[in-house]
Amino acid sequence: MARIIVINSGKGGVGKTTTAINLGASLNKLNREVIIVDANLNTPNIGLQLGAPIVPITLNHVLKGKAEISEAIYEHASGTKIVPSSLSIKELTKFNTKKIPEIARELATMCDYVIIDSAAGFGDEVIAVVEAADEIIIVTNPEMPAVTDALKAVKVARSMGKEINGVIVTRHNNAKYEMPLSSIKSMLEAQIIGVIPEDKAVKEALNMRDAVCHTHPRSRVSRKYYEIACKVDGRKVVVPRGFLSRLMGN
Ligand SMILES: Nc1ncnc2c1ncn2[C@@H]1O[C@H](COP(=O)(O)OP(=O)(O)OP(=O)(O)O)[C@@H](O)[C@H]1O
Ligand SMILES: [Mg+2]
Repeated sequence: MARIIVINSGKGGVGKTTTAINLGASLNKLNREVIIVDANLNTPNIGLQLGAPIVPITLNHVLKGKAEISEAIYEHASGTKIVPSSLSIKELTKFNTKKIPEIARELATMCDYVIIDSAAGFGDEVIAVVEAADEIIIVTNPEMPAVTDALKAVKVARSMGKEINGVIVTRHNNAKYEMPLSSIKSMLEAQIIGVIPEDKAVKEALNMRDAVCHTHPRSRVSRKYYEIACKVDGRKVVVPRGFLSRLMGN
């Protein structure tokens, strides 16, 4: 049975989708079978970011009882498996978010990790994915508004009896105006499992419709996502060969 990990944040635009895609791709590198679910039912992104914008069957269809979840799994050229949500405005209504936990459990029989990319905020679809979670990873930027919303997400999850696996601080610039990591940790009362630097490689990857871990495997951001995947998978960080040879100047 797979672990069901929900990527949540409270605030929008902090890097949840980027994290879901790159954590998934990094776990693939560790030979783990992963299915990434786009549970952002109203404004989905994963299909767009991975270059599969229009597909016949989506999570929305499954939630409406029009299709089976096995019909909504697609494989990206890189091997990453995704369950996209629909981009069509016709599919925006009448889906039953209460079915999300059951669907997640079904997916969990097919892989090692189900990674669910949550929408921002605390609407029905977000509460349903939190309900589905075995563990939650909170993504935040090192700024007070993002951390304040992350705290709400932590409290909602804990009030539902869910475990916070850890916090990932993304778009980190090491600037004086940013909140110190120690303050973020004590405010959220959770461990920080990774700090992802601001890196233009992320936007370049978006433009190439792939995970930055695939398009820029030697970038710092890819290296950091790989380290997080190792931590999540409970193994020592093994430096990939390409990274080592770069350090050695080969
Ligand atoms: N480490 C990074 N460096 C540079 N840009 C980044 C980084 N991480 C994310 N971004 C950019 O920030 C923007 C928001 O990222 P993303 O879509 O992953 O956030 P999100 O939390 O999923 O947003 P939403 O709440 O709208 O779903 C995107 O343009 C993405 O390319
Ligand atoms: Mg997103």
